[in-house]
Amino acid sequence: MWRNGLSQCGNTSLNKSEHRIPFSMITPSTTRQILETAHIEDVISEFLTLRRGGANLTALCPFHHEKTPSFSVSPARNTFKCFGCGKGGNAASFLMEHEGFSYSEALRWLALKYNIEFQETKPTPEQLAAQQEEESLVIVNDFAQKFFQSNLSGVGLDYLRSRGFTEATIQKFGLGFAPDSWDALTKAATQAGFKLEQLQKLGLTTPSGKDFFRNRVIFPIHNLSGKVIAFAGRILSSFESLSSWKDHPKYLNSAESPIYHKSQTLYGIHLARKAIRHKDECILVEGYTDLIALHQADIDNVVASAGTALTTEQLLLISRFTPNLHLLYDGDPAGIAAAMRGLDLALELDLNVRISNLPHPEDPDSFLRRVGITSFTEYLTANAKDFIAFKAGALLNHAGNDPVKMASAVHEIVDSIARVPDPIKRSFFTKDCASLTGLDEEVLTIETNKAMKSLQKKQATLIVERPSTLSLPKATSLGGRGIERHLVYLLLEHGAETQDASENITVAENLLTNIKDVLEHFEDPLCLRICKECIELVLAKKPVTTKHFIAHENLDLSGFAANLMHENTIIPDPHWEERGFVPESSSSAKHYLESIANAIYRLKLKVVNQLCLQNLEQIREVSPDDEQAMARLLSVQEKLNAARMELAGKIGLVR
Ligand code: GTP
Ligand code: MN
Repeated sequence: MWRNGLSQCGNTSLNKSEHRIPFSMITPSTTRQILETAHIEDVISEFLTLRRGGANLTALCPFHHEKTPSFSVSPARNTFKCFGCGKGGNAASFLMEHEGFSYSEALRWLALKYNIEFQETKPTPEQLAAQQEEESLVIVNDFAQKFFQSNLSGVGLDYLRSRGFTEATIQKFGLGFAPDSWDALTKAATQAGFKLEQLQKLGLTTPSGKDFFRNRVIFPIHNLSGKVIAFAGRILSSFESLSSWKDHPKYLNSAESPIYHKSQTLYGIHLARKAIRHKDECILVEGYTDLIALHQADIDNVVASAGTALTTEQLLLISRFTPNLHLLYDGDPAGIAAAMRGLDLALELDLNVRISNLPHPEDPDSFLRRVGITSFTEYLTANAKDFIAFKAGALLNHAGNDPVKMASAVHEIVDSIARVPDPIKRSFFTKDCASLTGLDEEVLTIETNKAMKSLQKKQATLIVERPSTLSLPKATSLGGRGIERHLVYLLLEHGAETQDASENITVAENLLTNIKDVLEHFEDPLCLRICKECIELVLAKKPVTTKHFIAHENLDLSGFAANLMHENTIIPDPHWEERGFVPESSSSAKHYLESIANAIYRLKLKVVNQLCLQNLEQIREVSPDDEQAMARLLSVQEKLNAARMELAGKIGLVR
């Protein structure tokens, strides 16, 4: 029965600091119990403000930026779904998406919340071997982190102390030291039973078997849920002046790995997330030490881009916690350029951006240490500029009185304004820009519109390349896999009801019997899996229900079912109806048997159409001299055509 099991879910305890037995698993029946007990609205309201709208609840979607809520929660279904970005699922999928939990972490979180005692199974050696690579890589990193931490003494510790970091800060960030040795870590790790291959995959050991980090202070890098996914190593200051940038860079970073994607990572996010939400602002700095220094001064709503140009993924991560971003960069030309680049990306995501440049040559860490926390925050309050003022300041100063340079500066500002999605904000920015430059507002509006058009053109080509971004839901498209999804929706929604009272046949049994012959032609693997599991349920005389799948222990199935059932029955917002969104359930309930029959015919028609095409292909390929083969193919074609006409007639496509 539980053949899918949880084999892909390893253990990660919620408490990161304790050592633990890896790889224990929550049993499938406990998983089901947890998912059935959890109330989606309780869970989500711990993170979002839900507004009641009829039987359902709505909110602004935390997974994409929007101004009118298209995120809906159905207490009756125990599901959520965003009709804007398409994300949806059950309570566990929400926690995974929102909190960056693994599946088993999400289940544990729920079990704790609802006081469910969870039974865990001791894994078999095969299961151990089959553990996901990512889980085991995190464990290797955990080992390395502890190794570095336990080697923090002498020069390494002196260095961190000389930078003013306290014992508590060093602990909080798990800072460590990589000894001046060619293989100290590699040896220790392999002796502890870790595989060289894994160390190499993480970039901790070089291809030639040497330690990658040597004689460096180590900063562990964590993901959103606090797992160590990579490291940065800083050269000791005594070597800094001797070394050339190229041979001995100031910082070394772990290589990209299955668990470390630099462009999606923000240093310090796991420690800052609560404060960012609470203070409704995120401060973004460039350096590891800047971030640590700010934390030590109790400014904890801060993350660091840490050496990469800011990416859209990083900004999206921030926008899950707040729309307000405060860029804090060095006042040198490189810092200003970095701020400019980050700015345009942030504007496109509709983040409210403020920018503070520090007096050159300070960075946040050095400036804070020089002036103290009071003056530091005063400086930020006094100097934070909105983006128009920042850009105008930086560009127009540079242009002086040169009209050509002035014009190009204005164009750059206008280009940024054009990226702001909200028209009202745009018009405010245009006003500001007019007053700062002394130019006519109307002229600027016209230029902004031009810039928007050319941006739209560029973005249109981008969307063609990446069709998944922000496409609106197709409400009732029944082509392709649509018909399979629709049929599965009807199966789950009505499967347990009685089709024929005299023969005691359920809707599910009838439906499944009718589609048995086309099952092998299903295109959507998840639809197929659900149908097959429904067949097993019917054979075992168990009811086919929505609940069974929404609380399914297999996350792929439960997420799919939650999404499907939610999108077919819940209107997130009255707007959607105005825009022509018609949920399936609005077709009167007693007609569902007709809907099912219709859907079965459509599904069969789709299959017959495919077979027709294949047969025609063969007819085209067969040699005209092979009369026998030709005759056979033609008779098949005739039968297929007849079936096609019959099905089309039943659906009402032809009369
Ligand atoms: P400290 O000198 O230790 O205070 O570091 P910093 O953070 O002030 O350094 P800096 O302003 O020079 O650089 C900002 C960030 O860029 C650093 O925190 C690193 O993330 C990154 N960075 C700086 N130098 C290097 C380097 O040589 N290699 C890599 N990969 N990243 C670097
Ligand atoms: Mn610094």
